[in-house]
Formats: sequence, structure tokens, C-alpha cells
Amino acid sequence: MAPYDVEIMISEAQISARVGEMAEEINAEFADTKKLVLIGLLRGSFVFIADLARRLTLPVEVDFIEAFSYGAEIESSREIRIIKDLRAPIEGLDVLVVEDIVDTGLTLRHVLGMLESRGPGRLEVCALLDKPARREAEVKARFTGFEIPDEFVVGYGIDYAQENRALPYIGRVSFGNRKD
Ligand code: IMP
Ligand code: MG
Repeated sequence: MAPYDVEIMISEAQISARVGEMAEEINAEFADTKKLVLIGLLRGSFVFIADLARRLTLPVEVDFIEAFSYGAEIESSREIRIIKDLRAPIEGLDVLVVEDIVDTGLTLRHVLGMLESRGPGRLEVCALLDKPARREAEVKARFTGFEIPDEFVVGYGIDYAQENRALPYIGRVSFGNRKD
């Protein structure tokens, strides 16, 4: 893989503060819930869901889905498959989908359609990052951490070819202008 640089776009402190604010919004929005099922989309949301879950004061359960998309070159014709499904039914339950980035929105549209068909009580989305410039599917997260420009990012669970997921901050990737 060609070398690339990563520079901080959103610091660890900024993320922590915003995750706390989002948790407060979610606590208020679901204040009357008996149980909130957090559904993380693997693998990019694993850090975010861990931090968010620990800032919620609601009774929560955690489950995961992993989607895989083919044909990423022509994005609007991508085919999305679920390669890991939920362990438990969600019928009648309050559900919050936890996503790392909403980019074209195609993944989320597919996942939401599938979850909706299972008859949840409430179904909302919480996304750490939103790249509205690249939206192709009409989906909107109820809770959003940061709106970012159309740049490739890594860190805080998000990867570039599996690299840099463990960075504590969100970094902007730049290609082809290394000085060393
Ligand atoms: P989409 O909304 O279906 O286009 O896809 C969203 C998914 O693409 C996210 O959950 C990420 O896994 C991945 N993705 C989108 N933008 C980026 C990025 O800047 N860095 C790394 N992964 C990204
Ligand atoms: Mg993802």
C-alpha cells in the first residue's frame, strides 16, 4: 500500500466531550425505555459503542451486525450483504443503531430496512461522523457527533485497509505528499 500521512482532525478530548453530550441527548430521548438495544455496525463502531454505552444511564443491551459491500467502485450500485446478524430478536424493543460514519448512506439504508422489517418498538440511529457531501441514500441519523467534509478519516475504530483503528483520535488521511 502506498504510504500516507495521518493528521488530527478531531482530538481525543473533543470526541470525549461530544460523546458525553450525545449520551445526554439519548438518555433524555429514551428516558422512559425499559431497555435500549444498542446495535453496533462492525467493525468501525466498536470503539464508539464502547464509550457511548458507558456514558448512558439507561438499561442497555449490546448486539452487533456486520455488513459487507461489494462493487465499491460504482457506489450507487453496491450490493450490501449482512455477514453477521443479530443474536437476538428486536420485535417490540427500543433500538439504537450505532454507526461510525454515514457516508453515501447505502449501508445504513440497507440495515435500517432489514431491522424495520423485524418490528422494533423504536428505531433510531446514532452516528459519530456524518459526511453529507457524499450522500446517495436518503437517511438521517437522529443523533450525530460531528459533520465532516468529504475527506478520508481513520482512528477511534475507523480503518484504512484495517490500519489505524486503534488511534485515540479521528485523523485525516492524506496521500502522496509525504516529506520523509
Ligand atoms: P456508506 O454510508 O454506505 O457509504 O458507508 C459507510 C461506511 O463506509 C462506514 O461505516 C465506514 O465503514 C466506511 N467509510 C466511509 N467513509 C470512511 C472514511 O473516511 N474512512 C474509513 N471508512 C469510511
Ligand atoms: Mg462501517
